[in-house]
Amino acid sequence: MSNPMNTLDRQELLVRAVKDETPLIRSFELVLDSGAELPPFEAGAHLAIHLGNGLTRQYSLFDAPGTGCSYRVAVLKDAASRGGSMYMHDEVQVGDRIRVTGPGNNFPLAEEAATSVLIGGGIGVTPILSMALELHRQGAEFEMHYCARSAEDAAFVDWLRSEAPFRDRVQMHFDGGDPARGLDVQALLAEVIEGRHLYCCGPGGLMDAVEAASSHWPANAVHFERFKASVVATAENQPFSVYLSRSGLELEVPADKSVLRVLRENGFDINTLCEEGVCGSCLTDVLDGEPEHRDQILSADEKSLNDVMAVCCSRAKSSRLVLDL
Ligand code: FES
Repeated sequence: MSNPMNTLDRQELLVRAVKDETPLIRSFELVLDSGAELPPFEAGAHLAIHLGNGLTRQYSLFDAPGTGCSYRVAVLKDAASRGGSMYMHDEVQVGDRIRVTGPGNNFPLAEEAATSVLIGGGIGVTPILSMALELHRQGAEFEMHYCARSAEDAAFVDWLRSEAPFRDRVQMHFDGGDPARGLDVQALLAEVIEGRHLYCCGPGGLMDAVEAASSHWPANAVHFERFKASVVATAENQPFSVYLSRSGLELEVPADKSVLRVLRENGFDINTLCEEGVCGSCLTDVLDGEPEHRDQILSADEKSLNDVMAVCCSRAKSSRLVLDL
């Protein structure tokens, strides 16, 4: 996981352009009023947008990574969303100013990859596009799969077909709403090839299918970007205590409260965005004890080290945790 030092913190950006990419997907171009250069971003990076309705949502940057004077994100209008996408579609117009934090990156390309398989589903194609642009720039070996219901529902199809510099590496899979007619992830991922890395971002069903089909891959070769927590099987909540080493405070975390909530009740200002284990902003160093990890950002290897935890959602397997707070 990486977060460039040079990032914006609730910086106001001007909405310079809004474009309907499909009937339900709208892209937004954000710039500084001065038109000056913005902090650079990496492939797979996202921007946190603080919406006027009090919500904060993360959206992937879909352009070629690097330095430039604008950021572009694309947002699916999702009637089942919890208010973020509806706000972006219904309220945000050219000339508005919106506050952003970032860029951050929980979905970076692995430098050691020899070849890569990129799978983007629906609006999840956005970080995949920036990855494909970067891999193409590097001259790296990769293939990209774009899964959607239909070409009409999918953003950037014309560009991918006729203009994308990596268009010969793209396969599109339109299933008409029936996953059985879409990408055969079992076949695609059956063979484990040394040095091959897999990246996937898309709807929960696709991500779950890809995760299951790649379960025999090395854990450090598969990378997922989730913006919404999927349901993770967890043990029933148990109470435990946290000792805050720098403050010398011992706090009880009852079964019906998160560590985050207990910390806030005791006056700690903890940085959060998602509060459901998918953004990484609340990660806190663990000095002793064994966390019960419930987040979806740390890799299996990172979780096994037990030296950091997402306090918004994770709990404890041991009766006591010592946190570096
Ligand atoms: S606030 Fe996003 S992981 Fe905890």
